[in-house]
Amino acid sequence: MSQKKRIAVIPGDGIGKEVIPEAVRVIAASGANVELSHFDWGADRYLADGVTVPPDGFTMLGRDFDAILVGAFGDPRVASNVHAKEILLGMRSQMDLYANVRPVRLLDAALCPLKGVEPKDVDFVVIRENTEGVYTDAGGVFKQGTPDEVAIQEDINTRKGVERVVRYAFEYCERHTKPDGSPRKRVLMCDKSNAMTHAGGLWQRVFKEVGEEYPQITAQHMYVDALCMQMVRDPRQFDVVVTNNMFGDIITDLAASLQGGMGMAASGNIHHGKTSMFEPVHGSAPPIAGKNLANPLGAILTAAMMLGHLGLTDKAQKIEVAVLEAVQQKRTTHDIGGAMSTSEVGEWVAGRVTQSYARSLRIAEPSK
Ligand code: NAD
Ligand code: IPM
Ligand code: MN
Repeated sequence: MSQKKRIAVIPGDGIGKEVIPEAVRVIAASGANVELSHFDWGADRYLADGVTVPPDGFTMLGRDFDAILVGAFGDPRVASNVHAKEILLGMRSQMDLYANVRPVRLLDAALCPLKGVEPKDVDFVVIRENTEGVYTDAGGVFKQGTPDEVAIQEDINTRKGVERVVRYAFEYCERHTKPDGSPRKRVLMCDKSNAMTHAGGLWQRVFKEVGEEYPQITAQHMYVDALCMQMVRDPRQFDVVVTNNMFGDIITDLAASLQGGMGMAASGNIHHGKTSMFEPVHGSAPPIAGKNLANPLGAILTAAMMLGHLGLTDKAQKIEVAVLEAVQQKRTTHDIGGAMSTSEVGEWVAGRVTQSYARSLRIAEPSK
């Protein structure tokens, strides 16, 4: 029996509070040896007592847990978005989870808005730098409210920060195969170095240097505007994409659309050796929150990604197979063409996972 993994669960706001319970239900159905602890960090808590992250909250997460499963943060009642910034961006930067890994995988042709595109055509990964760039919030506003107002938002790129995420992308390419078993072969760096020359220059130099250490991997480059165009024109050409924090944010919403929309996209905020955090790519979706409408599959795939990261690969695979079946059999929510509610989809996927768990137990312990 593998050692019990300790998981912190933070559903957050809006649909995060609906999709995460479904992901938890599916984890339980998989028979994974885990212990879950729930935390109420989010808008409700902030509005009640002013606390975003309790004192030493990140230290506690890093010390007491093997992984963190997060929903989403963002609530119309908190216009400043301060709690999302402190909890979500705080976790990413203060826990130093520098690689935001966002797989882009089409499960069924019917889900893709592009003509003639099949699952084998959309199967790439975006590795987003997760601790620097414009997300450090360095800068300031001067002479606010006057005609002379100045707003400065700094784009911070460190040699260490760029190098480690670029290396992560090459290592990822080397170590991961596609779901069909074929090797990954290309790493593409995406920037805007034709206009943002200082930061772009650093990314270019680092990418070239690190790429030379991996001669078996093809190193490619695209400007971010061209990449957006190519992603829609021909997503087949992408394998592993590495980019900065903001471009990574933007292109993964576009990429989510190729997969069937925001409700299908999973992600991990990873630093090997540290407690990593897993969250669906989507936000709290206030207009559909509380209505049992949200698609839980992105959160469920995120849970599978987390279990895979924790070494529970058989559990992760069972969950992925069950999600694929749900999509193929249209056991889905309205956003991807089904007629089921959030909880019905969660229940259905959990049921499939339970069946395959029971099957695997029978195989492991044949009856006498
Ligand atoms: P969003 O991802 O919440 O929603 C974008 C669109 O996708 C909406 O039409 C929404 O209804 C739809 N959608 C998203 N998830 C879905 C799901 N699971 N099932 C079905 N439809 C889904 O992005 P937004 O509207 O720009 O942001 C809303 C709030 O969420 C904001 O406060 C934003 O800052 C926050 N946000 C948080 C995160 C996060 O916590 N990781 C990510 C993105 C946005
Ligand atoms: C994401 C979100 C966040 C980001 C927001 C909520 C700050 O859009 O996780 O993609 O920009 O990183
Ligand atoms: Mn985003």
